[in-house]
Amino acid sequence: MVVRIDIELAAKDAIRPAKRGDLIIVIDVLRATTSIVTALANGAKSVIPTATVKEAFKIGKEHPAYLLVGERNDHKPRGFDFGNSPETLTNGSIQGKNIILTTTNGTKALIKSEESDCVAIGAFLNAKAVARKTAEIAGKKGTDITFVLAGEKSHFSLEDFLCAGAITARFPKSTVELSDKTAGALLAFKGAIHELLESIRNCKHAQDLVKKGFSRDVDFSGQLDIYDIVPFFRNGKAISLSS
Ligand code: MLT
Repeated sequence: MVVRIDIELAAKDAIRPAKRGDLIIVIDVLRATTSIVTALANGAKSVIPTATVKEAFKIGKEHPAYLLVGERNDHKPRGFDFGNSPETLTNGSIQGKNIILTTTNGTKALIKSEESDCVAIGAFLNAKAVARKTAEIAGKKGTDITFVLAGEKSHFSLEDFLCAGAITARFPKSTVELSDKTAGALLAFKGAIHELLESIRNCKHAQDLVKKGFSRDVDFSGQLDIYDIVPFFRNGKAISLSS
């Protein structure tokens, strides 16, 4: 059974593949999906994405033990436990915790994709695990796969496109058929592979993050295949499945 792989270049178009029932892989390398993968790989129980800071506080009030994590204008909102720096989620303090996460683009892209009953969360960190697990599920269910790139305020983000290429490079070749956009992402990733971090650092959002002092986050987010987990977003929360 051949699985077709396509890409929506902006989160606002997530509704199309969601309505078709595609398996969706949401990517926001800088930094939302990198943070979700990192939190769950480091022992968080679940991540609950919200579109707004207000909604995050509301859930936090109902569940005082939950941690508030996220950003606005790249910085930690006042009253939150952590900002959106993925590396800060590796220090053990999130072990066994539920996390409420709100970010400018990434958490909204997830919520827009929710109409699909199968939404996986991808980053460079778990590219191989995502490819293996989603190809297996889509093959069994007979559905296609669409990457939804969160981008930046509905604009295309090169780092998310490169990550779609990295995951595509890891699909079992004989079982997938690539759209031209997906083939383009694969070519872009192959062209960048020997200087991947440099290519990510040249992206617009990475440059903004570096200017604001988040250079380590960019470097952390550019690591390939360091985690073997695949988060799935279902019933309002992301939880992890091993690949
Ligand atoms: C977003 O969702 O827009 C990003 O995660 C922003 C960031 O924290 O760099």
